[in-house]
Amino acid sequence: IDIKTLRGATGGLTTIDPGYKNTGSCTSAITFLNGEEGILRYRGYSIEDLADKADFLEVAYLLIFGELPTTTQLEKFHSDIKAQSHVDEDVKKILDGFPKTAHPMGVLSSLTSALIAFNPSSVNVDSEEDMYKAIVNIMGKFPVLVAWALRKRTGQPLDYGDDSLGYVDNILKMMFKKPNSEYKVDPIVSNALDKLLILHADHEQNCSTSTVRIVGSSHAGLFASLSAGISALWGPLHGGANQAVLEMLEAIKEDGGDTKKYMAKAKDKNDPFRLMGFGHRVYKNFDPRAKIIKVAADEVLEALGVEDPILDIAKGLEQEALNDPYFVDRKLYPNVDFYSGIIYRAMGIPVEMFTVMFALGRLPGWIAQWKEMRENKEPIGRPRQVYTGENLRSFKEASDR
Ligand code: ACO
Repeated sequence: IDIKTLRGATGGLTTIDPGYKNTGSCTSAITFLNGEEGILRYRGYSIEDLADKADFLEVAYLLIFGELPTTTQLEKFHSDIKAQSHVDEDVKKILDGFPKTAHPMGVLSSLTSALIAFNPSSVNVDSEEDMYKAIVNIMGKFPVLVAWALRKRTGQPLDYGDDSLGYVDNILKMMFKKPNSEYKVDPIVSNALDKLLILHADHEQNCSTSTVRIVGSSHAGLFASLSAGISALWGPLHGGANQAVLEMLEAIKEDGGDTKKYMAKAKDKNDPFRLMGFGHRVYKNFDPRAKIIKVAADEVLEALGVEDPILDIAKGLEQEALNDPYFVDRKLYPNVDFYSGIIYRAMGIPVEMFTVMFALGRLPGWIAQWKEMRENKEPIGRPRQVYTGENLRSFKEASDR
């Protein structure tokens, strides 16, 4: 076939790769991921080291600006964020319009988008300074939206944070402080949340991050791109899996704890049931984040004195999967979402908030990826297709159809 005929048929040569299983969409210097060997690094630092030694705000700085901050840089970053940690009072009216039962991920996505109306200059990021302003603006306001999404559900007043606290401690206080009572941050809870947020902070071109980059590539602003990313994260095949895992483990417990029954369902190709929290597009050996979280789950539950029977069910499922040819052949291992919900639950975070906590952790990663995309002056994202529909047809009047 000569090239003209081909162009006539398809509009040019097009590669088809559903789900982009083998297609790189960009070059990136942020996160290195080797799925065969279970390696994850942010800006060259191993996830194990960062989870063990860094705090979340340091990691956010590292992802966004490329280097670990000096003490002075970190203090300035934190104080610039704190200066932006109030949202317009009218945002409360928008939140008021949602039913109490609204899913917090929908609330978070809508309010992140609504912030544009109150911060129109955040869309203009032509200079480095404007970009920095948009970044600290959302780093300051996002935790407030997260806390309010929870407080709306639990009927608590919509308060602001406490500037004297660290970034993560302040989030906990905003989420859990009750009116007319003191709230003292439990260091066990704070350290565990810090670690979880670090583990979720970036993961190269996953579904939500690709969404942020592609929406941003049209030069829609940062907040609009993030709002789209939050919606992408919500799905149960992506970040929504952490809620789905907990609900699945609960269902297994309610059903008498028969893990074998659910293993059989997961393997049955006529049953839509999947073992939530298992499998990953890229990791084909183990998910290094899951390894760290599994150890943390044991430690946190013990330190908090929580005995949760679903932790045993989770471990039982993992053990069975490790010895089951279906899971072994398909290289299906627990992913980041398998054990995280058990820790969130021990902290007192309701199950509908689990994916919101994921979004909170992923925020710096999304920002870093969006910033890189803009700085690299990437062209607008515009995938092609191979058309499989009808050839030219002549229009029929309604009476002739
Ligand atoms: N339970 C049972 N079987 C599974 C599971 C599972 N959790 N995951 C994959 N499989 C099977 C598939 O049925 C398929 O089998 P087949 O070859 O016989 O048809 C094979 O394993 C390959 O699965 P795919 O769906 O083609 O793999 P893909 O890379 O497209 O999907 C995904 C990856 C979405 C993570 C998938 O494993 C899944 O649905 N897992 C459960 C949801 C989940 O935990 N998502 C969180 C992912 S991590 C994150 O986003 C933060």
